[in-house]
Amino acid sequence: MPALWPYPNVVAHRCGGTLAPENTLAAIRTGAALGFDGIELDVMLAGDGVPVLMHDETLERTTSGRGRVTAHSAAQLARLDAGVWKGRRWRGEPVPSLAQAVRLARELGLWTNVEIKPAKGYERRTGEAVAGAARALWQGAPRMPVLSSFSPLALGAAREAAPELPRGLLLQRVPPHWCEMARDLECVALHCSHRALTQALVRAMHEAGFAVLAWTVNDPRAARKLLGWGVDCIVTDALKRIGPEFARPAPPTAKRGLLQRLRRSG
Ligand code: G3P
Ligand code: MG
Repeated sequence: MPALWPYPNVVAHRCGGTLAPENTLAAIRTGAALGFDGIELDVMLAGDGVPVLMHDETLERTTSGRGRVTAHSAAQLARLDAGVWKGRRWRGEPVPSLAQAVRLARELGLWTNVEIKPAKGYERRTGEAVAGAARALWQGAPRMPVLSSFSPLALGAAREAAPELPRGLLLQRVPPHWCEMARDLECVALHCSHRALTQALVRAMHEAGFAVLAWTVNDPRAARKLLGWGVDCIVTDALKRIGPEFARPAPPTAKRGLLQRLRRSG
């Protein structure tokens, strides 16, 4: 039977967690520099329909701009400063297009979870445009991205535009009809708030044939518990506490002893 989740088991939220300005090229480099094999990023449409990396519908929190993202073209957004809010060392970091972000992620060998983040009223348009762009940008790549969204409308449009790209349904709470929802959209995974998960739910999701991703897990004990339940992927902001090695099994005791001796003697 093929693995339910042939992708990384620990993924950097918004590309660089809390260590870099979210959803920027600098954040992608930060995740890669810490050895991460996978990143999550948020994608919205600029006013001219170009997919760009952006979490909020308005610009104030993460950029030097003001107003709605949809009121600006991608070229206008690229001239804003999306780094300085996080600290002076990030000054001048632009709002990247999805195309720029994918180019860099592919160069660095990073797998990507693309969260489709439509502005209100733009759900279908965003799903269609992001899936179409993703299909072209990852052409010939060894690992396809997973497209996820809280919006069933956006995911439905993504399926129509690029049915071959795997999809994950994002859930803040797990409704009773989670299985029908995910089946209707032909999803491969459920992307759940870790607070909404129980061991029984993880088991039921696996039995229904879905992989389970948990976000946003910043406490190593919680991450360990979720992985123990069989959760397939942890999305984290705490890149230094929950690193890429986290999900890998510990070496056997004998080997661990040898490693410690080697470290002491070195
Ligand atoms: O994809 C998981 C997570 O990113 C969803 O929430 O608001 O951080 O995009 P948010
Ligand atoms: Mg997100």
